Amino acid sequence: MLLDISFFEEIKKIENESFDFPWNEETILKCLNLPEIKCFGIVDSSQLCAFSFVLPKWKSLHVAKFAVKKNSRRKGLGMRLMNEIKSFWEMKRGKEITLEVRSKNLTAIKFYLNFGFSICGKINKYYADDGDDAVKMKYVIPHFFKNFFMAKISDL
Ligand SMILES: CC(C)(COP(=O)(O)OP(=O)(O)OC[C@H]1O[C@@H](n2cnc3c(N)ncnc32)[C@H](O)[C@@H]1OP(=O)(O)O)[C@@H](O)C(=O)NCCC(=O)NCCS
Repeated sequence: MLLDISFFEEIKKIENESFDFPWNEETILKCLNLPEIKCFGIVDSSQLCAFSFVLPKWKSLHVAKFAVKKNSRRKGLGMRLMNEIKSFWEMKRGKEITLEVRSKNLTAIKFYLNFGFSICGKINKYYADDGDDAVKMKYVIPHFFKNFFMAKISDL
C-alpha cells in the first residue's frame, strides 16, 4: 500500500533500527511530502512492518530506501514489498528498477539478487559517511521490450 505522512513515526523507527547512518527526520518528512516520491509499505495487524521510498525517473524507478522491521525479517516481507513495487512499475509501463547498495551490505545484495536484480556497476567511495563503495543494481521488468513493441504494432 501507499503510505502517507501519518506513518512518519513508524517509518522513523524502522529507519533508525535498520541503518548505521539513518536519514534524519527532515529527510524522511521531505520524502513523504514530495509528490514525485512514492512511499510503499506493508502493514500487518495495524503495524508498519516494511517501507520503501521510490522515485520515478523516465522509464526507470529508483529505489532510494528499502527496509523491513528488525523482528519481521526473513519472513518474506521484503520480497512482498518489492513485488508490490514491481507491479506498480509494470502498470506504469516502466522498464527497469534501479538502486545503489553499500558494498558491505551483503544481506541486502543477496536479497536483491534473489529477487532477480543484477549487478550493473560500482561507484568507488560513494558513501561520504564511511567511504564505502556503492554497488549499482538493476532489475529489468520482464517482457518490457515485447510489451513495448506490441503496443507500437497495435497502433499501426
Ligand atoms: C535486506 C532486507 C530488506 C531483506 O528483507 P527480508 O524481509 O528479511 O527478506 P525476505 O524474508 O523477503 O528474504 C528473501 C530472500 O533474501 C535473502 N535474504 C534475506 N535476508 C537474508 C540474510 N540475513 N542472510 C542471507 N540471505 C538473506 C534470502 O535469499 C531470502 O530468501 P530465503 O529466506 O528463502 O532464504 C532486510 O534485511 C533489511 O531491512 N535490512 C536492513 C535495511 C537494508 O539493508 N536495506 C537495504 C538497503 S539498500
